[in-house]
Amino acid sequence: MAPTAGGNPLRDPRDRRLPRLPDPSALVVFGVTGDLAQKKLIPAVYDLANRGLLPPGFVLLGFARREWSDEQFVEFARESAEHGARTTFREETWDRLASSIRFVSGSFDDDAAFDRLVSTLAELESSHGIRGNAAFYLSIPPSAFPVVLKQIERTGLAREQGGWRRVVVEKPFGHDLRSARELNALVDEVFGQADVFRIDHYLGKETVQNLFALRFANTLFEPIWNSQFVDSVQITMAEDVGIGSRAGFYDATGAARDVLQNHLLQLLALTAMEEPVSFGAETIRTEKIKILRAVTLPDDLEHYAIRGQYEQGWLAGERVRGYLDEENIPPDSTTETYAAVRLGVQTRRWAGVPFYLRTGKRLPRRVTEIAITFKQAPHLPFDATDTTELGHNQLVVRVQPDEGVTLKFGSKVPGTAMEVRDVAMEFLFGEAFTESLPEAYERLILDVLLGDAMLFPDNAEVEESWRIIDPLEEFWANGQPHRYRAGSWGPAAADEMLARDGRHWRRP
Ligand code: BG6
Repeated sequence: MAPTAGGNPLRDPRDRRLPRLPDPSALVVFGVTGDLAQKKLIPAVYDLANRGLLPPGFVLLGFARREWSDEQFVEFARESAEHGARTTFREETWDRLASSIRFVSGSFDDDAAFDRLVSTLAELESSHGIRGNAAFYLSIPPSAFPVVLKQIERTGLAREQGGWRRVVVEKPFGHDLRSARELNALVDEVFGQADVFRIDHYLGKETVQNLFALRFANTLFEPIWNSQFVDSVQITMAEDVGIGSRAGFYDATGAARDVLQNHLLQLLALTAMEEPVSFGAETIRTEKIKILRAVTLPDDLEHYAIRGQYEQGWLAGERVRGYLDEENIPPDSTTETYAAVRLGVQTRRWAGVPFYLRTGKRLPRRVTEIAITFKQAPHLPFDATDTTELGHNQLVVRVQPDEGVTLKFGSKVPGTAMEVRDVAMEFLFGEAFTESLPEAYERLILDVLLGDAMLFPDNAEVEESWRIIDPLEEFWANGQPHRYRAGSWGPAAADEMLARDGRHWRRP
């Protein structure tokens, strides 16, 4: 067998890009007992360790209020890795990781706890040789950002001690443009802009990155990727789940702020952007921001910005309750659980092409996809009766599940007559590759440790996205959302929105 990088038998020797390991460093997670850390961050750290992608000298340092010892935190982390990791749980990997796990107990306004954090990091210099490198992951509610950032500033933790210091901020990045600006200013006061990593986990998804490959590694698609050939674009992020146990957060947020402002607008930017001059953070951000600046809302928001709220219904054979009956939701809440909007992109490439975005909870199934619908052939040399089952050519990038790409086009139906009907050509990641797809957080945590900001939106993108969302929220502020049955594809008004344009939503 060919020697494997770092001696790790799990590392695929064909993968020449992997050997770049991060510097020895500490990943400090604030709010480490929370849902995100437990379900996503700790399992992702374990998976990285299992894949041999963490450097010797890596330390996971948890910070939270519980009065735990290192050992108790190690137990918690083990459980979370056992339940949530993507790769096989191996005792050998675990033992190695467990010896590099530390815990600091305290609340965010507790000066002594932050002083303990400083001394723990200092100890790690000699025990693990982290060389002053530390990333601070704020896995905490935005309301706690100011106090934690102040503590980081007070204790000098943001200043490099011969190594690097970075901060990772989770969405929501503010509540509107004004609060996003305040938040950005606050973070930028403590850390340099290049040291701030804003996580939009959709950018960490393999299939989202595949958009770059699809568009820019092939000759096939780019020539037709414009208003001359494209009729319209639909970006869908549908979820079958409801709001789970996040009532407080969700009711104050709603679908547009929760995912339209970030995940869906990022997908739009990647779909519409020009080719970057190279693959680097700056060059990609430059192209994305140009698109976000060119995005316009329709004049007629009444008909082209639809929001909805689910009522009780049936999903997968089970009766589910309506939003207003969810625990801890006020009975008169007008928060939307569904949002759909038609956007324009005012560039030469996209002038006149509508981008329809929609997202919703309690829809029939979980699916995220980008569907590019092409214009019909300008002339069909067949009898009209022979093409009744011929639609538009369509390219569908399936972000999840069944990750892959489908191309829909017309084909002759076998037989003596010349009948043309739509068929589909499928590419599935699961069939074409033996490697399973890494979780978004594996990629993003690794990139933070490597200092690669390519997949992280910068503050200009965040602010520009709020510039698009704010007028929608204002428009919706005083009205009632439309209602839709749980298990349906959303309110009838959203169907009418497309019908008004002579189109219909894809049924993914
Ligand atoms: C989060 C939203 O950003 O994305 C959630 O806050 C949503 O409401 C989640 O459920 C969906 O993520 P994924 O990766 O499961 O599609």
